[in-house]
Amino acid sequence: MSILVTGGAGYIGSHTCVELLNAGYEIIILDNFYNSKSESLNRIKEITNKDFKFYEGDIRDREFLDNLFATENIEAVIHFAGLKAVGESCQKPLEYYDNNIGGTVTLLLAMKDAGVKKIVFSSSATVYGSSNPSPLKEEMPIGGTTNPYGTTKLYIENILQDLCKSDDEWSVCTLRYFNPIGAHKSGRIGENPNGIPNNLMHYITQVAVGKLDHLNVFGDDYDTHDGTGVRDYIHVVDLSIGHVYAVKKVLAETGINIYNLGTGNGYSVLDIVKAFSKASGIEIKYEIAPRRDGDIATCFSDPSKAKNELGWVAERGLEEMCEDSWRWQSENPNGF
Ligand code: NAD
Ligand code: WQD
Repeated sequence: MSILVTGGAGYIGSHTCVELLNAGYEIIILDNFYNSKSESLNRIKEITNKDFKFYEGDIRDREFLDNLFATENIEAVIHFAGLKAVGESCQKPLEYYDNNIGGTVTLLLAMKDAGVKKIVFSSSATVYGSSNPSPLKEEMPIGGTTNPYGTTKLYIENILQDLCKSDDEWSVCTLRYFNPIGAHKSGRIGENPNGIPNNLMHYITQVAVGKLDHLNVFGDDYDTHDGTGVRDYIHVVDLSIGHVYAVKKVLAETGINIYNLGTGNGYSVLDIVKAFSKASGIEIKYEIAPRRDGDIATCFSDPSKAKNELGWVAERGLEEMCEDSWRWQSENPNGF
């Protein structure tokens, strides 16, 4: 029996595949390489010294999915595949609704018809919107998302809730990620988006390798300890290990469970700049710029539910996140 990993060639997916293989699971990866490279699959094999099957295809392609489920013995799905750039989603909302919501509904229909009713879903802290105070807890009301990307995560969460209400055979684990950064210790896999970077750490590493001149710090007048935005950065390997715990949960029980995957610590933009400079020995040039639309001052998790119910805790600190981000970027300046 295998775990199907959609989007397994991507940033979080590739790290999760390493942890699943290390934990002894058989996996099958499905990806269309929209935002990833096939080299990441070679690197997963290199790191783990284990093999797996790969299908190149699209989660919106029902015939392809039906053939895959008919051919393979799949026990559960970890569903990473989707588009994730907040800014781009405002320019191309239909593409985001089609890929993320349409793709997920097609995948769920294929799973239902194949009798595979166990899924771990990649959601995001963005579903908490802007009115809940941090630390954010799973039982807080969700909604009020400020961009189409966030809204796709919100709708998919609702779809999964409705599905579990309609049929008690489903087993769903919705994971709300905070801000994943870092890379595998080996320096062989890491974040490699196509196009312009979207997230803070990627901008910082691009400045460090000289591809960007400086970092724009979006606002220094927030109500935080130094005026810059505060987030809950989590090492991607900790996040990935969280999926191994979540898979165990969906394999063992039915029903829907939602967990924050974060550290519970908030760091500001300038804290990250300082920590990265220390880890890399490179000074990061930055300029204070206006606030970015849709940003909030502070967002960090209460991770205690995942600790109490899954037994999972993030163990890697900020220094290690920065060192590992830097190792990946400096050893692979052009990505894969
Ligand atoms: P990523 O872009 O690196 O990985 C996504 C993968 O899915 C890519 O390999 C891409 O090629 C593939 N893909 C996209 N559309 C597909 C389709 N229709 N069919 C098949 N494959 C497809 O992104 P990531 O950072 O690894 O994120 C993984 C998941 O986690 C996404 O759903 C994302 O929204 C979610 N998430 C990410 C973050 C973050 O900050 N990285 C935070 C919260 C949630
Ligand atoms: C972090 C902080 C910025 C870039 C987004 C998505 C969320 C999830 C994670 C999903 C903020 C500041 C950033 C820069 C800066 N994504 N910043 N200069 O916005 O917390 O979350 O990524 O898949 O859904 O919304 O992450 O890394 O963009 O920003 O000053 O060049 O860094 O203002 O305070 P964010 P981020």
